[in-house]
Amino acid sequence: MIISKHLLGLEGVSRKEISLILKTAQSFKEVLARPIPKVPTLRGKTIVNLFFESSTRTRFSFELAQKRLSADTLNFTASGSSVSKGETLKDTVRNIEAMKIDMVVIRHSAAGAPHFLARNVNASVINAGDGEHEHPTQALLDLMTLQEKCGKLRGLKVALIGDITHSRVARSNIYGLKTMGAEVAVCGPATLLPREVEQWDIEVFTKIDDAIRWADVLNILRLQLERQQSGLIPSLREYATHYGVTRARLAPAKKEMVIMHPGPMNRGVEIESDLADSESSVILDQVTNGVAVRMAVLYLKSGGEQELDNAIEAETN
Ligand code: CP
Repeated sequence: MIISKHLLGLEGVSRKEISLILKTAQSFKEVLARPIPKVPTLRGKTIVNLFFESSTRTRFSFELAQKRLSADTLNFTASGSSVSKGETLKDTVRNIEAMKIDMVVIRHSAAGAPHFLARNVNASVINAGDGEHEHPTQALLDLMTLQEKCGKLRGLKVALIGDITHSRVARSNIYGLKTMGAEVAVCGPATLLPREVEQWDIEVFTKIDDAIRWADVLNILRLQLERQQSGLIPSLREYATHYGVTRARLAPAKKEMVIMHPGPMNRGVEIESDLADSESSVILDQVTNGVAVRMAVLYLKSGGEQELDNAIEAETN
C-alpha cells in the first residue's frame, strides 16, 4: 500500500491506512515494553517539532517517539525564535529546511497551517493540532486505546461530550471512528455544537442522560475557554451541573462505560475528579498509547518498510 507523505488530518484517510498505523503502533508498543525500548529505525533522519501553541502530552510524546526511533530532533518554540521579530511561518520553515531536515511536526492555532506548510516545503508534515480543525494523532491514539479496551471498533457506540465546536479532537475522532465502522454521537449544549454537525451523519444529543443511555464509550472533551467567545455557557457551575460527567450520572445506565478524555482536564467541570481516576477511565492508557502511535506515524511517513514485525526484529538483532 502507498502511504501518503503527510498526516494533515483523518478526513479522507482510508480504513486500510488507519489499520496499518494501528497495527504498526502495536508492534512499537512491544518495542516500548523491552528492557531497552529503542530501535535505530530513523537513525540519520532529522525531525523538527514546531509548537506555536502550548502542549504537554503531544509535544513530549512526539519527542519521546523520535528518541525511541533514534531520530535527531530540533525543538522550536515561537517565543524564543525569530517569529517574535516578525518572520513568517513559511520563511521560518524554509530556513529550517535549508539545514536539511526530513520531517516537521507542527501545532498551530491557525486551522490549515500544516496544509500550508505541506504545499511549501519538501519535508513530510505531521499535524499535531491545528486550531479548531484536526488533531489526527490524538484520534489515532484514541482508536488504539478503544481497540485494546473493547477488542473492536466496528459497531462500538462512542459519544463525544461537551465543547464540540472548538474541538479538533472531536473532528478527527469523528472522521477516524466512522471510517473504522464505529457509531458516533456528539452531545453538548446547542451553543457548543457546530452547524456542520448536520453534515456529519451522526447522532446528536443535547441531553447528557440520553447520550449515556446510547453509548458504550464517553470521550469527554475539555471546555476550551481560551477559544470561546463569551456567552456560550451561562457559567462553569451551570455547565458542570448539566454536562459534567459524574459517577452518579452514569449509575442509572447500569452498564460498563469506558471513560476517555484527551487532556488536559478541567476536573470538576466536564468530568468528576473521582471518575477520571476510576477503573472505568482509560485516560492514562491514551497517553501511553500516544508514544507508540506517534512512532508508527513517524516511521510510516518517513517511508518505512511495511513488513513491520520482521523489520523491527531484524533491527534489534
Ligand atoms: N491532548 C493534547 O493534545 O494534549 P496537549 O495539549 O497537552 O498536547
